Amino acid sequence: MKHTLHECLINKKTSYTPIWFMRQAGRYLPEFRELRKKNQDFIKLCLNDRLSAEISLQPIRRFDLDAVIIFSDILMIPYGLGQKVEFKKGIGPVLGDLNFNVILNTKPNNFVEKLSPVYQAINRVKKEIKDKNLIGFAGSPWTLLMYMLNKESPKNSFDINKIIKNKSLMKDLVLKLEDIIFLHLKEQINAGADIVQIFDSWAGLLPKNKLSEYCYIPTSKIVKNIKSLKIPTICFPKGIGENYIDFCSIVKPSCVSIDYEIDPKWIKDKLNGIPIQGGMDPKILLGEKEEIKKNIDKYLNAFKDYPYIFNLGHGVLPETKPETIEYVIQTIRSKK
Ligand code: CP3
Repeated sequence: MKHTLHECLINKKTSYTPIWFMRQAGRYLPEFRELRKKNQDFIKLCLNDRLSAEISLQPIRRFDLDAVIIFSDILMIPYGLGQKVEFKKGIGPVLGDLNFNVILNTKPNNFVEKLSPVYQAINRVKKEIKDKNLIGFAGSPWTLLMYMLNKESPKNSFDINKIIKNKSLMKDLVLKLEDIIFLHLKEQINAGADIVQIFDSWAGLLPKNKLSEYCYIPTSKIVKNIKSLKIPTICFPKGIGENYIDFCSIVKPSCVSIDYEIDPKWIKDKLNGIPIQGGMDPKILLGEKEEIKKNIDKYLNAFKDYPYIFNLGHGVLPETKPETIEYVIQTIRSKK
């Protein structure tokens, strides 16, 4: 059995650097694009347990990765809570109007039933992999709240004051999301996930005086609950800069995934041994091999003698060549 990623999170020591990539299952792979062409409805694809399992396994058929991440999406939670979710070409996700009553009154059983293909897909993948970890995931309360209220990517338009204008409703929504996110992660764990990651892709939109209420406290409750199941949690609070330190001391994740704006040496010195994941800018993978190698060395050298999981500072970009992923893995593996 070779579960190096898990070992890095639990024992904080490994014989080599474990590797996986956020969005390792996705549009940079021709076999994904092929399948996607025949399945235009993205939510439906995520609810097809056979195809979701197949897509999750696509990257490990090509590459020597240490983990499989289940193919799904963070927006399956709003969908499970009764909000309409669509993915439009060139725009990204578009959500329907939010009905507070429907969301706040969604019964856990109904949610789990609606998303049961996600758990079945995990079950299928688990049977196919013996020597790799299986990562389940969810969006963080803040990032989900942001999509549910903004109804589209904040890259298109965003005003925080519009989002959090009704304080008491926000409180109820955050509490509901804490419960549902934990439930969704627990179901993934029951189905076979042995690590979970919480994506807070838009934590960086929160002003410093709102981080505690919308990011640290809600996330820390989920992490604590997952810990009671004896499963490690990786947290990715993207874009919060120096606040990564406060995040780690309050949330106490099993591992923190850093974005490309974080200086690896700086954070290593501040974190007192919490395993670190990721960091390298995904855009680097669109450039020359020499530059790629230089950047790999930057992270591997910074985290020499420190529990480190190789990954990027955000997801693999669709323009990335599969050969480049192969090159990154080979370069890291040749250093063990
Ligand atoms: O390989 C993996 O990492 C597992 C699968 C995965 C997907 N989405 C599949 C997907 C994971 C972990 C996610 C997480 C996710 N989804 C996040 C957090 C990570 C991040 O990127 O910040 C967010 C914010 C979302 C919401 C979402 N889903 C967006 C904004 C989009 C459109 C983005 C785009 O690039 O157009 C998606 C669609 C999506 N989710 C795709 C995939 C493979 C692309 C689907 C397609 O158009 O073919």
